Amino acid sequence: MGPQAAAQAKITSEMTLSEKADAIEEHMMHELDKIVTKSVFANMTDGHVDMEGGAALMKKYPGKYFNMGPDPRLPPMPEKPTLLDYFKNRFASTNHLLQSGALAIKNGHSEKVVLACLLHDIAVVSFIRCDHGYWGAQMIEPYVDEEVSWAVRAHQALRFFPDESVGYSYPEMYVKLFGPDYRPEPYIVAEYERATKHRHYMTARLITVNDIYSFDPNAKVSLDDFVDIIGRHFRQPKEGLGFDASPSAHMWRTIMWPTRFL
Ligand SMILES: [Fe+2]
Ligand SMILES: [Fe+2]
Repeated sequence: MGPQAAAQAKITSEMTLSEKADAIEEHMMHELDKIVTKSVFANMTDGHVDMEGGAALMKKYPGKYFNMGPDPRLPPMPEKPTLLDYFKNRFASTNHLLQSGALAIKNGHSEKVVLACLLHDIAVVSFIRCDHGYWGAQMIEPYVDEEVSWAVRAHQALRFFPDESVGYSYPEMYVKLFGPDYRPEPYIVAEYERATKHRHYMTARLITVNDIYSFDPNAKVSLDDFVDIIGRHFRQPKEGLGFDASPSAHMWRTIMWPTRFL
């Protein structure tokens, strides 16, 4: 932001960093021709249980209507989006997914296992971290074989538990990330125990085996390498992903239009 824009946003040197950030955000909102507002969930992730009411917002932005579609600040999506469009325009980072999928190919796994590895963390990169395996599974469930979505759901729990038979141990990375004393909650332990008895256990286990915890910034991976596998195993709805009437279409729409007012 240059000095002129800073002046327009009423930034002064006495402001704290967070006051400056709020002023810039407010200024940006005034520049838009629609009223764009945050959901309560977005505020909660900033540490406040809070929402701005419709009437207060209309007063703040006189003469404007609420955003009821695409957020003008985000990359535009085509009329009939495909999974690849979400990869390109809504997934904040795809390297981890591409590297995991590439490793699964290198290890000679089936295409369904490769797809499960490619999609296992889509919830993290597009939506939400907490319980990401469950959310990710729900997003893809209507469009993939049950083996794939079940495995994505179960990797949530399995990644915390070793399986010597495939050489998987508790990730060193988790000790660094969560501390040596972290223990999975009882619901995760119960999920793990159920998963070990499931017929698709090994598919979910292979997600954890191919889950790359230390990213190689130099590895050359491309979404192009997965286009055929996605084409064969992901049932792209003809109306566009989000505009079909599947039980998870609304989740894709929300990711496409995260600031739609209702
Ligand atoms: Fe994960
Ligand atoms: Fe992962």
